[in-house]
Amino acid sequence: MATKVTAPSVLARKGGSKLKMVTAYDAPTAQIADRAGADIILVGDSVANVVLGYDDTLAVTVDVMIHHTAAVTRMKPHSLVVGDMPWLSYHSSTEETVHNAGRFVQEGGAGAVKLEGGRKRLDMIHAVLDAEIPVMGHLGLTPQSVHAMGGYRVQGKEAHAAYELISDAHALSDAGVFAIVLEGVPDTVAEIVTNEIEAPTIGIGAGADCDGQVLVFHDVTGLGAGEYLPKFVKQYAHLADDAVTALEEFFSDVESGAFPSEAETYHMPAESAEILRNLSNPSDHLMADEAMEH
Ligand code: KIV
Repeated sequence: MATKVTAPSVLARKGGSKLKMVTAYDAPTAQIADRAGADIILVGDSVANVVLGYDDTLAVTVDVMIHHTAAVTRMKPHSLVVGDMPWLSYHSSTEETVHNAGRFVQEGGAGAVKLEGGRKRLDMIHAVLDAEIPVMGHLGLTPQSVHAMGGYRVQGKEAHAAYELISDAHALSDAGVFAIVLEGVPDTVAEIVTNEIEAPTIGIGAGADCDGQVLVFHDVTGLGAGEYLPKFVKQYAHLADDAVTALEEFFSDVESGAFPSEAETYHMPAESAEILRNLSNPSDHLMADEAMEH
């Protein structure tokens, strides 16, 4: 039986076999991710655009994220479940940040939380770690900063910006995060960070040198509703197309009468069927019974 993955066991994988992470947002996607051997399941705030139809991740609240995190952890995956702290849930005060992070563990059953940002989030990261909750960092293209970044753009392309990003990675790793997601950064930057810090790096659009890779479940499997796929996504299946074909066949069987067949039909015992058929009009019979009772 596969052993449960934990934040310390992820940290211990630094420089070892590659870490495999994927998002999941509900019980079936969690089960599939776990069966496929995910080390880490991220209940990402990407649930907002991927599943709930929003344009960005900013609309989801702690309540929504915990609703989805709990659905994932109810499947008791061997993978470590990381709950993604949504925008504004770790920005105001350390007290509120610890309270919100604690809800992911107490109500959502998560084994860790992830939050976006570098040195300017260090106080919050220290506070959550002090509460014994493992933290995963997230640097580079941080989707919750979409307005501040002026769109979803690769980060750290210029030497100065790259230097700042590398300094952020050092600060987070020194603070004690057990892993850092590097999203949308040049491969050279990811390589330098990976070689220099103690925490494992998990890349998404960050090249091949990271300690692990993550993709969004619906992107990898082709289950997504949108047409647009970022350059860094590799699609390994086309489940949405398969689902459309399955439903088209179902509807055509309904039209032709081929569904339901004998195999999908319940029967009553022959005796009961015969009695029932002999009652020409069951409601007449009921009225006669009622008349006799009065
Ligand atoms: O929310 C999310 O899906 C993420 C991953 C893309 C890392 O943060």
